[in-house]
Amino acid sequence: MDSDAQSLPAVVITDLAQVVAAQSDLPSIAGLLVRNFQLYPPGMGWLTPVIQRGVLEDLRQRLRNAGKYYGCYRAVLGAEIVGTAELSLRPVQGRYGWLWQGRSDRAPYLANLAVEQSSRRRSVARQLMATCEQQAQAWGYGQIYLTVMADNQAARSLYGKAGYEIVRRDRGWLWLGEKLLMRKALMVDALDLPS
Ligand SMILES: CC(C)(COP(=O)(O)OP(=O)(O)OC[C@H]1O[C@@H](n2cnc3c(N)ncnc32)[C@H](O)[C@@H]1OP(=O)(O)O)[C@@H](O)C(=O)NCCC(=O)NCCS
Repeated sequence: MDSDAQSLPAVVITDLAQVVAAQSDLPSIAGLLVRNFQLYPPGMGWLTPVIQRGVLEDLRQRLRNAGKYYGCYRAVLGAEIVGTAELSLRPVQGRYGWLWQGRSDRAPYLANLAVEQSSRRRSVARQLMATCEQQAQAWGYGQIYLTVMADNQAARSLYGKAGYEIVRRDRGWLWLGEKLLMRKALMVDALDLPS
């Protein structure tokens, strides 16, 4: 059983109203992403510093070039960033799948959702998702998308419980397995921010 397989009392992440990450948060967020995602083939942990530098540079660039339709969010508990998520517009529904670049086919897309092991099963991810969903609605969209690896049971359980449905299955490549595209219709009463 995973060490995060059981629920703990929910915690309300601090500064929920101002969760947008600043450039100064990005080194912590890059570390969090590398610790919590399998970003290299098994047995190649020595690549961690190189990958972390690459992730940090990507984040810095996205935040620097951020227009209206981008948000990098952080969940802070005490003084520590324990969770993160990114929201942007991406082509998700075009006839040619990921290759389609037409503006009208872009939709809010939630990515890089991760929570530190020590803070899991306390509703941190749920709150980050609710924040992204509210932002997507504020942009004027009625749907939000994400992708998840088919074998990521924790994330699939999280998304299923939050109302996301599978709309496409993409075959994996190299060491990566099948990827699922999921979608949620956004309605005011579908948001479940903790009281
Ligand atoms: C997936 C992840 C973001 C969940 O974060 P979290 O803060 O622990 O999730 P929450 O506490 O908000 O969980 C909300 C619900 O999701 C489901 N869930 C979350 N983790 C689960 C697990 N390990 N097993 C089963 N269900 C789980 C539960 O239904 C849970 O509600 P409950 O605790 O009341 O039963 C976290 O495990 C993580 O960072 N994993 C590594 C990175 C990753 O896989 N990200 C997703 C990429 S698509």
